[in-house]
Amino acid sequence: MTDALLVETRTADTAAWWRQAAVYQIYPRSFADANGDGLGDIPGILSRVDYLEKLGIDAVWLSPFYPSALADGGYDVADYRDVDPRLGTLEDFDAMVAVLHARGIRVVVDIVPNHTSDLHEWFQEALAAGRGSAARERFIFREGKGENGELPPTDWVSVFGGSAWERVEDGQWYFHNFAVEQPDLNWDNPEVREDFLTTLRFWSDRGVDGFRIDVAHMLTKDLSEPLPSRAELDAIPRDGNHPLIDRDDVHEIYAEWRRVFDEYDPPRTAVAEAWVSTPERRAKYASAEGLGQAFNFDLLVADFDAEEFRTIIADNLAQSDTTGSSTTWVLSNHDVTRHATRYGLPALNGRHVKQGTEWVAAGGPDEGIDREQGLRRAHAATLLLLGLPGSTYLYQGEELGLQEVAEITPEERQDPTFFRGGEFDGLGRDGCRVPLPWTASGPSFGFGAVEAHLPQPAWFAAFAADVEAADPSSTLSLYREALRLRRVLQADESLQWIETGRADVLRFARPNGWQVVTNFGTEPFDLGADATDVVLGAVDGGAVPGESTVWIAPAGLIG
Ligand code: NOJ
Repeated sequence: MTDALLVETRTADTAAWWRQAAVYQIYPRSFADANGDGLGDIPGILSRVDYLEKLGIDAVWLSPFYPSALADGGYDVADYRDVDPRLGTLEDFDAMVAVLHARGIRVVVDIVPNHTSDLHEWFQEALAAGRGSAARERFIFREGKGENGELPPTDWVSVFGGSAWERVEDGQWYFHNFAVEQPDLNWDNPEVREDFLTTLRFWSDRGVDGFRIDVAHMLTKDLSEPLPSRAELDAIPRDGNHPLIDRDDVHEIYAEWRRVFDEYDPPRTAVAEAWVSTPERRAKYASAEGLGQAFNFDLLVADFDAEEFRTIIADNLAQSDTTGSSTTWVLSNHDVTRHATRYGLPALNGRHVKQGTEWVAAGGPDEGIDREQGLRRAHAATLLLLGLPGSTYLYQGEELGLQEVAEITPEERQDPTFFRGGEFDGLGRDGCRVPLPWTASGPSFGFGAVEAHLPQPAWFAAFAADVEAADPSSTLSLYREALRLRRVLQADESLQWIETGRADVLRFARPNGWQVVTNFGTEPFDLGADATDVVLGAVDGGAVPGESTVWIAPAGLIG
């Protein structure tokens, strides 16, 4: 190979780093607290770089670390181009990026374009400037109904519960899809569009490798009068023309963003958080002319079931073939009950469990959770995911096998969904956001020098990173070994199903011969002669035990 060719190959590889990356989501306020104020921070992340490197991930995705009043865990951004002073400074951020890059770990940051915080200077200006002003045009202000405009413009309900409209002092109302403190931006306004290009360049210039786009499917709206009622709104198909959700015209924004991403070498990447109605609708976000990749949450809401997994995997791989993107796999994030708990619930429905005829929130103390089974299945599902083509997103703490924390009193809870209900009725999302246990003893289990901002239960000690690092049979050791082997075994983005003769056992091979076998049932699955080539996961008498996964690699594949 000539030198020129070598360089070209390397450049291509670098640009495609995201296609099969293992991306670790950090929820910064709950990761590690370096300055002893009970809140995780950027220097805290820096102090744990060795841990991240040993884990073997390719990139970190940081949930918002921007200035915020924390009305929605930081997804209420008061300034898109700064670091929350409680979390550090821009210099701290730069130092963190430099160190992560030096260790071969890429950095993805969260962009929240649908709404700002009510403390953002634009919203404060809008409040002060009054009706009809240019400042109000950056948001969605309307007159109310009723004799004196005392009724909201429509009966629409916000995702977090309650009216989607809030009245301001001079009597106008503003629209908020989420919390009252999260006013929606007006994406028809060119100034809004321009400002986000500035933000994308700001972080790209600081060396950020990619972006996770919050509720990417909600930015554009058709709010022409007369506005539909809630019932009318609900009846409108979400096929590109719905007034509020997944409109086709949102892709004009992402085409513009793509041009910005491509100004950089390697081009910056993006992944859309888009809860849309079909895989075809999702594909639009993943297109190469748009964001390039979109989260696929199908497995996150699926049962631990072979048939369901197989269908979802096949559908998503077929879908990514049509877009040229790679698919994404995710079982946990900061919005859902941790999968080690979910899989131990008697019945699954995303965050909820059925008790009799009632759906109740998952993670509650008396729901008959079988935590051993939950963890067993979580291991099996995660190893399956890590063997699939595409990228896998892991959520901080899952590598410790952490369970959802239910023991948080109403007074200690922070999540607005707990207080307001809406689509998230139940215990809310605090249970998966409790600060990580780093050590079995000491204040806040090594998270920081003082009590953590959400209470950690006593049982966290058993899940502490230092305990698990010293135990070869721990979840942490399993993740480390899986991520290490995944790098060695990584293959082209395809798979071939191998029939197992069992409806509850999935088996597939990657083009280089790497095989994954997951037994979703309880009966052992005999591997025959292949048992000798198992490189990850345990076989028992030549068989894959119930609710477990093994990886098989023919001799020679592992150097
Ligand atoms: C999705 C985020 O993941 C969630 O945490 C947040 O509450 C909403 N978007 C609103 O920003």
